[in-house]
Amino acid sequence: MFNSAIVFDPSTGTSKKFSVPIVQELASQNLQKLPQRYIRSEKERPNTFLLPHLDIPVIDMDMFLTDSDLCRQKESEKLGTACQQWGFFQAVNHGIPLSLLERMKGIVREFIQLPLEEKLKYKIQEIEGYGQTFVASDDQILDWADAMSLTTLPPENRKMEFWPTKPSDFRETVDQYALEIQKFGETVLCLLSENAGLKSDHFINMCGKLIQNMRLNYYPPCPRPDLVLGLSPHSDSGCLTVLLQDDGIVGLQIRKDGEWIPVQPIPGALVINIGDMLEVISNGIYKSIEHRAVTNMDRDRISIAMFCNPSGETKVGPAPELIDELHPCQYRTFTRADYVQNLFSGKLEGKKKKIEFAEIKS
Ligand code: OGA
Ligand code: NI
Repeated sequence: MFNSAIVFDPSTGTSKKFSVPIVQELASQNLQKLPQRYIRSEKERPNTFLLPHLDIPVIDMDMFLTDSDLCRQKESEKLGTACQQWGFFQAVNHGIPLSLLERMKGIVREFIQLPLEEKLKYKIQEIEGYGQTFVASDDQILDWADAMSLTTLPPENRKMEFWPTKPSDFRETVDQYALEIQKFGETVLCLLSENAGLKSDHFINMCGKLIQNMRLNYYPPCPRPDLVLGLSPHSDSGCLTVLLQDDGIVGLQIRKDGEWIPVQPIPGALVINIGDMLEVISNGIYKSIEHRAVTNMDRDRISIAMFCNPSGETKVGPAPELIDELHPCQYRTFTRADYVQNLFSGKLEGKKKKIEFAEIKS
């Protein structure tokens, strides 16, 4: 029931291997007491500083297709405010068929329910496969979740040995979904570029060739959801993340002004958030916000995160057009590969640790 996490350590130039349990197996054992490795310190536990009465902004993507300049302008302002002040929004009427969203959730559930030995055929190596990423030491507190990570686009970057063959429509469904999300992500990048006063393809051009990664998150029920986290606080590392989540169960929380706000799922909607790269490219206009996932006692939860990332050789830095006397340059330019090396050298530790290596201190 153990799976290994292999982590590259840039300080020694070697990879280290750690054994971590498959949480789904742990959860099925009706444990009387949680293993110590999952128990968070008081200040990290889920129910501190909760602000349940606020909701993240909802953007109606249909509004960008209307003939009315006024409607488009209003929604664009809402989108801009959402990405500047929240770094998160939910998109409704996004144009991706609901049947495809349901099928995606279906294949994830079907994969999760396969016997362990079948899933371990796709055991994680480095960063792709089934298991846990971001395990950096033997004594680190672990997340109450299992995950499956895959590179989905461009097709030539796929490592098919990690792509499950069961359920039988897994590959075909992911392929279709990946293309839909890419199109949708590009639309959002264009809207945000225009919203920042730039030509619509400006951000896309700055991102270079886009690489898409997918993470299927599985959060088993937990006997003590008050003591654990499903996913440690972090910001996402790419440009944009598009999250599809289970209906009717809350797990994702985002940090706003020091407090944690739960994201109430809207059936059929997608949750979009700004990643570190877009915060840098926009010279800090759009915010990459810390978020985490909590678990539930009676129900499991799945989510499907699609990350839209610049490729490794891409130089990432603030758009010169967004720098002036009033808006000084906030980040130095770096390659995506440098950033990723920094990222995978540690556990998930909130936002600051990852992006601060590029911050220009005034
Ligand atoms: C992620 C993430 C949140 C969730 O995969 O990066 O933030 O609710 N997931 O699963
Ligand atoms: Ni995330």
